[in-house]
Amino acid sequence: MTTEIRPKRLFIKTYGCQMNVYDSDRMADALAPSGYEPTATMDDADLVVLNTCHIREHAAEKVFSELGRLAEMRREGRSFTIAVAGCVAQAEGEEIARRSKAVDLVFGPQSYHRLPDLVERAGRGKRVIETEFPAEDKFEHLPAARPEVTRARGLTAFLTVQEGCDKFCSFCVVPYTRGAEQSRPLEQVLAEARTLVAAGVREITLLGQNVNAWHGLDVRGREIGLGELCARLAELEGLARIRYTTSHPADMTDELIAAHRDNPLLMPYLHLPVQSGSDTILAAMNRRHRRADYLRLIDRIKAARPDMALSGDFIVGFPGETDADFEATLSIVREVGYASAYTFKYSPRPGTPAAVAETQVPEAVKAERLARLNALVTAQMRGFAQSCVGRTLDVLLEKPGRMAGQLGGRSPYLQAVHLEAPAELTGTVQKVLITTAGNNSIAGKIVTHAERKAASVIESQPIPA
Ligand code: 5AD
Ligand code: SF4
Repeated sequence: MTTEIRPKRLFIKTYGCQMNVYDSDRMADALAPSGYEPTATMDDADLVVLNTCHIREHAAEKVFSELGRLAEMRREGRSFTIAVAGCVAQAEGEEIARRSKAVDLVFGPQSYHRLPDLVERAGRGKRVIETEFPAEDKFEHLPAARPEVTRARGLTAFLTVQEGCDKFCSFCVVPYTRGAEQSRPLEQVLAEARTLVAAGVREITLLGQNVNAWHGLDVRGREIGLGELCARLAELEGLARIRYTTSHPADMTDELIAAHRDNPLLMPYLHLPVQSGSDTILAAMNRRHRRADYLRLIDRIKAARPDMALSGDFIVGFPGETDADFEATLSIVREVGYASAYTFKYSPRPGTPAAVAETQVPEAVKAERLARLNALVTAQMRGFAQSCVGRTLDVLLEKPGRMAGQLGGRSPYLQAVHLEAPAELTGTVQKVLITTAGNNSIAGKIVTHAERKAASVIESQPIPA
């Protein structure tokens, strides 16, 4: 006899990075067999999960204001289960329970395979807090998404291959919230990638807090790195593109750099945070690289892949940062030239060494430096987009565009691209002549084979004497 399961509605609100986006999908997959179906709004949800981020204070505080709103909905008579997941849950499980009486369930990033059981226990009216690192591998226990669910999530997918961090940058909570570096085994990653590609996924972004620290063993027991993993992924019929993020400069091996030369599926766009341009600050941050090491690394990467576009993270106002240190950050940005960049004011995080430094930078100085850095990186991002005008780029067409008759996709450099194209081309990679560059996207038109041939004939005409 089978018991019919009444569909229940699940709403997951995701904060923070792509790893949380991936985790939220896997939580939905874990709860699907218990009858939970995603809903687009909190208002009709039976279970609300806040998948939280702890990286900066602002991100963590957002969770508490959302919990206040949820508690208010409860007081107004709505009945639903409230769960807090992710890095704030891991770092401040007890504190969440203390500050918000409405929370029924708190669980860390290593426990989401146990969700059906945890939700069931929380539903019995007993508050559940699960922030231990369980002995078993969550990935071994998580069900795969059904193919139609994967397809509905789009033609591009995230795949977490590595978690945690052993680097202990002095500003960062990740080594404490996500624990030590761990790589998923090669076969487990390939199996998940095969399932994604079989469901129609054309682009996979490998994820990890230190993704380029990924390592595994091949069938012969030989130690391999991320470059070789990408080579194995490139063998999957139907996969068109591979990306990976986020990388630490210290783990950019020769093998991985060579993969950017040899593997045509690896996209020429790399998020490689430097954080600061000052050697004094880099040392205080415990970054394990100096300015010159980073610049040399960029040269080696560009030698392997000349059109590589770079993206970075920068922190301003780290404790002890002087005007000269900050100028060094501006100058490294000028020297490298970024296609995209994420900038942050230093935010003291509980339990990290930098938080207790006595040389904290005043808020007004941080704000002023952030504004100056933002002006520079915004100009660089615009300049990069402008430099694409007149070039023909490969664009993976992913979804309907902003206007009727248009499709939206991404360039190799992760730029959003809009163009006129019939819906049947969704999922294909097309040559697109870029004609305009806006603030957040670029636009162009598909170049047909005949036009490409004509263009190359014109280009190869001899110069008249
Ligand atoms: N304050 C400000 N920015 C931070 N980041 C990490 N920790 C902090 C902090 N305490 C930034 C770094 C990192 C990105 C994910 O967030 O630049 O690369
Ligand atoms: Fe944090 Fe540094 Fe690890 Fe990145 S490398 S997660 S910034 S400790």
